[in-house]
Amino acid sequence: MARCFVTRELPGEALSRLNAAHEVVVWPQRTAPPRDELLRGVADADGLLATLTDAVDAELIATAPNLRVISNYAVGIDNIDIAAATARGISVGNTPEVLTDSTADLAVGLMLSVSRRLAEGERLVRAGDWKTWEPAFMLGRDLHSATVGIVGAGRIGEAVARRLAGFGCRILRVGRSEPEALRELLAESDFVSIHCPLTADTRGLISTAELRLMKPTAYLVNTARGPIVDQAALGTALSEGSIAGAALDVTDPEPLRGDDPLLDAPNLVVVPHVGSATHATREAMASSAVDNLIAGLAGEPLPNRVN
Ligand code: DGY
Repeated sequence: MARCFVTRELPGEALSRLNAAHEVVVWPQRTAPPRDELLRGVADADGLLATLTDAVDAELIATAPNLRVISNYAVGIDNIDIAAATARGISVGNTPEVLTDSTADLAVGLMLSVSRRLAEGERLVRAGDWKTWEPAFMLGRDLHSATVGIVGAGRIGEAVARRLAGFGCRILRVGRSEPEALRELLAESDFVSIHCPLTADTRGLISTAELRLMKPTAYLVNTARGPIVDQAALGTALSEGSIAGAALDVTDPEPLRGDDPLLDAPNLVVVPHVGSATHATREAMASSAVDNLIAGLAGEPLPNRVN
């Protein structure tokens, strides 16, 4: 029996499989374990099941001499120092595939929300400010037939493209390290949707210069990771009207404070990192993360290994 530290309760039944096989400590609170509790939790652990809010860095890895497997409850692995884990021979797993469709659904929802002014309209009705139907009231822009630029055409980007085929959209794609193609995509797209992982190369990928290339009628949508977009630059672009709007599922930091200056920007929709937040998907992620941990602790290949 191995010792496992799990940093949150997970939806569904998957943790009961882990409990049946190993000695498991689950951090009991809704918020992530504070740093000292995280270090205490992994100190004698063989396996760690972490979420994207846990910094699994070189210091943590060094304080966990028995650690053999790190299973991330996310597809993104930017919270983990993969080089440090690999140097120690620790297997790292993630949960790709199972969240692709839910995240793609949300990206399309955000495109519609910002371009058709759904959140703004709802606020207006609730405030009692809807006076009458008017020909030129609450006009937005169409997603159907639009040109949509997908930045990072991996699994989720392609799932977004498939959905938008049904909207009759023209799809442009760019990989994360194609600067010239990115510039062209930004200049041509009516919607720019970010789907690349956060790495040293993609941090700040969309900043002042990139936002200036976008059309004043275009929208930026980010369901990947907050730091890929320079938020100060985005706030300025929205305030100056150099783009038409933005819809963010991810921010920097998370959670975004209620008094963050970005929230003063016009035409901004923000939701709290819910791309994968459906019952079915979060349960499937739990199952995938537990599968990785159980396999790694048995000395078997992880079903989804990243290193
Ligand atoms: C991930 O898995 O990386 C997502 O951001 C979680 O929704």
